[in-house]
Amino acid sequence: MQSLALKYRPHVLDDVVGQPIVVRTLTNAIKNDNLRQGYLFVGQFGSGKTTVARILAAMENCTESPGMHPCGKCSICKGVFAGRHTDIREIDAASSAGSADEIRKLKADAVYTPVDGAKKKIFIIDECHRMSPTANDALLKILEEPPKHVRFILCTTDVQKVRPAIQSRCQRHDFGKIYWSLITGRLTEIAEKEKIQVDPAALNLCARLSSGSMRNGISNLEKLRDFTGGKPVSMEDAQAMFGEVGETLYYDLLDQIIGTKGNGKPDASDGFRIVNQMLSTGTDFDLLYTGLLEHLRSIMVGLTCTKAGEFLQVSEEGKRRLKEQLRHCQEHDKLNAIIAIIGKLRHAKWEVEFNYPPDIALQKWFLESVFAFRR
Ligand SMILES: Nc1ncnc2c1ncn2[C@@H]1O[C@H](COP(=O)(O)OP(=O)(O)OP(=O)(O)O)[C@@H](O)[C@H]1O
Ligand SMILES: [Mg+2]
Ligand SMILES: [Zn+2]
Repeated sequence: MQSLALKYRPHVLDDVVGQPIVVRTLTNAIKNDNLRQGYLFVGQFGSGKTTVARILAAMENCTESPGMHPCGKCSICKGVFAGRHTDIREIDAASSAGSADEIRKLKADAVYTPVDGAKKKIFIIDECHRMSPTANDALLKILEEPPKHVRFILCTTDVQKVRPAIQSRCQRHDFGKIYWSLITGRLTEIAEKEKIQVDPAALNLCARLSSGSMRNGISNLEKLRDFTGGKPVSMEDAQAMFGEVGETLYYDLLDQIIGTKGNGKPDASDGFRIVNQMLSTGTDFDLLYTGLLEHLRSIMVGLTCTKAGEFLQVSEEGKRRLKEQLRHCQEHDKLNAIIAIIGKLRHAKWEVEFNYPPDIALQKWFLESVFAFRR
């Protein structure tokens, strides 16, 4: 069965999520008939490089409606989107296709005009940083002066390893990590189309655990669908699936910091127990960091925006607890304290990046936060 990520691969630039600069530049290039002969698509895995390369090929070569909205039905569109059209070749440089011999063959082939109805012969070279040095040499010459009917789109997740000489012969486009709320939006659309009933908080979690890759986000949703076997997906399912700390623990911990529970005196024992419970689940520090940051962000949004509901995606139980914490922060004028502990959390993350033990970093952050609030 086809994966959801492949099923929902966009066929027009309008459906590409994020990447606004890439989309705008290529839209203008298509409209002004000003496409380059060499492109270098750089960046995060699963962020749209192959997708956009194919869309570009279809926009230029579609026989029914070339331009911004390729038909998706003609033999060229079909071939392009299936990744197999004689004139639009996808080469994986990480395999033997990236060897010097293969690139030499490609050069010999590039001399001939398209044979199967396309206007341009397009070579999409994936993982181009994996080409051997001799393959690179072979490619350089043709990239310098390609035949008029040829276009190259090189893709890489590791641009540092692409030779500067290759880079300077191409127009570079950077595909950044996709912001998780945009990923959540796309997952919501896909879930609706697939009739997967899923708690919005669980979709949010799929997106947060995607590392900014749409492919990862969509596969997370797919895993959840398979996990519940077609039954509605709850946040608890998502937490069980991904080994995430339950949201209750985040609210419990913030209660201890903010002082929603307790007598206002800095006794940190209960909170310290919760921190240790979080650590004992074996959850990765980065996940705990993101979870805490997200909860603190919700409080900041609640304290500063009158229509906070528009910007927050929380479960029903989460809303109740958030309200309680917000009320407490408002009554005690604690916006500055929230901002301060977000800064301290960022510092803890930075320490962990420099090899500080994660458990100590989290415990220290908690204690500092308690004092920031009780000051
Ligand atoms: N910007 C995006 N908008 C919408 N869907 C996307 C986007 N990026 C990726 N996807 C989804 O993820 C899948 C994989 O994307 P794609 O193959 O374009 O990634 P890539 O950047 O080429 O990754 P890799 O470096 O791993 O080759 C697509 O089939 C699509 O469903
Ligand atoms: Mg790719
Ligand atoms: Zn077409």
